[in-house]
Amino acid sequence: MASPKKIRLHFNEVAMRDGLQNERRFVPTEDKIALIDRLSTLGYARIEATAFVSPAAIPALQDAEAVMRGIRRRPGVIYTVLVPNLRGAHRAMQSQADEFNLFMSASETHNLANVRMTREQSLAQITEVARLASEGSIPVNVSLSTSFGCPMEGDIGEAEVLAWVKRFADLGVQGVSLCDTTGMAYPDQVRSLCGKAIQAHPSLNFTAHFHDTRAMGLVNALAAAESGIRTFDASLGGLGGCPYAPGASGNVAMEDLVHMFACTGYDSGMDLAGLIEAARQLEPLVGHGLSSQLPRAGLRLTKHAPPAGLEEIRARAQAKASQAPRL
Ligand code: COA
Ligand code: ZN
Repeated sequence: MASPKKIRLHFNEVAMRDGLQNERRFVPTEDKIALIDRLSTLGYARIEATAFVSPAAIPALQDAEAVMRGIRRRPGVIYTVLVPNLRGAHRAMQSQADEFNLFMSASETHNLANVRMTREQSLAQITEVARLASEGSIPVNVSLSTSFGCPMEGDIGEAEVLAWVKRFADLGVQGVSLCDTTGMAYPDQVRSLCGKAIQAHPSLNFTAHFHDTRAMGLVNALAAAESGIRTFDASLGGLGGCPYAPGASGNVAMEDLVHMFACTGYDSGMDLAGLIEAARQLEPLVGHGLSSQLPRAGLRLTKHAPPAGLEEIRARAQAKASQAPRL
């Protein structure tokens, strides 16, 4: 009997944006470009290459134009960029970004802390940027931060989160990312919110974006896949975190996520060995160890050498077995 067709998932690499925005050390532009070029060969649907935000707010990404100019665009990969306002949209357009990733927060407090606007002001900006993008035939995704809870406000009601999603859908955007900015999500909540969002907007492309702040990233991603989510953000090496969200830490690690999905019967379409190699290269760039497991542990079936003297151990064990049992 033919085996059932595996469900195909799609991956967005966010290490170059969510990842680097929270790093102390500035990664030189040429190293960013080389890493993006390498990642481009590994099977990603999307690479979030940079952010056209204020360089004063996020100095790590002050070289956004140079990065976009320097990368080699691989056909089939969408080079998306984070855009906070109209100014950012014009910069992104000049840099020929394939997609705008607009963002706001479901939490009023986090939105004010992050972008210094109320949520209604953010939506007004998003509306204007979406109009500009549609004139230029540029697809738009909206990332809704703190969809699963805010570190300052606590839980954000599910109905409220879904109401924001509806307002984005009404603008005609192509995708919405449900973002767990500080790792507050848990599987039942993920199943409920993702399931309802997909049911209400079947033509929107939903992405799940989990941070591993409380070591729940993988289990939440699995719950999201079971609820029908087919696109995932994650970060090579588990880098990441919003500098304007107290207690934020890294995204779920891309290589660990891809490995988990490969083991649970999904088709990731990703070059996992290549990802692990790329993660090992990332470490010297950021100047510290990574939180991901796979670069240390290797693939599930990676074989290690047995201990020295194994044959002697075997011979002794066999000799013991052949001795008459002591009574
Ligand atoms: N690109 C470059 N510079 C920008 C910009 C953009 N998209 N938007 C604003 N600026 C500059 C302005 O020119 C101004 O510069 P100046 O002080 O030299 O005159 C400065 O930023 C402040 O501009 P203002 O319009 O008053 O914005 P703000 O201070 O209210 O900041 C944001 C609003 C959203 C632009 C800014 O907070 C930001 O970029 N935040 C980044 C948030 C982020 O990336 N968080 C992590 C992702 S979740
Ligand atoms: Zn994030």
